[in-house]
Amino acid sequence: MKIIRDTQRNCARMAAEEYRKLLGENPHCVLGLATGSTPEMLYEELVALCKAGKLSFKDVTTYNLDEYVGLDGSHPQSYRYFMDSHLFNLVDIDKTRTHVPCGVGVTDEMAAHYDDEIKQAGGVDLQLLGIGPNGHIGFNEPGTPWDAVTHIVPLTDATRQANKRFFNSIDEVPEKAVSMGIKTVMQSRRIILMAFGKNKAQAVKGMIEGRIDNSVPASILQLHPDCTVYIDDDAASML
Ligand code: GLP
Repeated sequence: MKIIRDTQRNCARMAAEEYRKLLGENPHCVLGLATGSTPEMLYEELVALCKAGKLSFKDVTTYNLDEYVGLDGSHPQSYRYFMDSHLFNLVDIDKTRTHVPCGVGVTDEMAAHYDDEIKQAGGVDLQLLGIGPNGHIGFNEPGTPWDAVTHIVPLTDATRQANKRFFNSIDEVPEKAVSMGIKTVMQSRRIILMAFGKNKAQAVKGMIEGRIDNSVPASILQLHPDCTVYIDDDAASML
């Protein structure tokens, strides 16, 4: 694991530079993307680079990590809506090459098919991750088996509470999500994980210094051959 510690803005800039290089070298690459407040600044930087003509998403294919069960893409809290409004609608990407797991009418079998689609596309070249305060990645909550592929997950109360800030009330927060599994994530060639703020400090400590144990799903990233972690001082405060 490579650890880079700086302000959130500088981390976003450095990570954006990694994307600029990758897309320059491999314009047809496959990106694994994430939602949440953590990647917002990175997406701002990517949009700025694209507008400045320094990077193009024209031939890029994307697969997002997760989606809430029951929300379709027109729901403002769906992850499809988030991606459209924070990135896809603002850059030169071909929307037909963007994929977010389907959260409506989804079964485990349909969910697992997402892994086949990713394989058929050549596998993920660079997967972006945030981390939940309990160490979850995607929506792989503590206890998720390491060999999980894309599947339907019941969300823990802690995660629903953490994400309720985006909804009018806790009752509106979906109880389930569909998420790439840990195996899906670990199969990507390269990973960038970003974490900012004090409420991520415990999870960051467990991920970097803890035992590799599925009580902290992100701890498995210690075994990934090419994983870079961008953190600010607050997220690093327990290291
Ligand atoms: C959600 C998402 C994760 C994300 C996490 C942290 O649960 N499924 O992919 O990493 O929240 O979110 P935030 O970046 O808003 O702190």
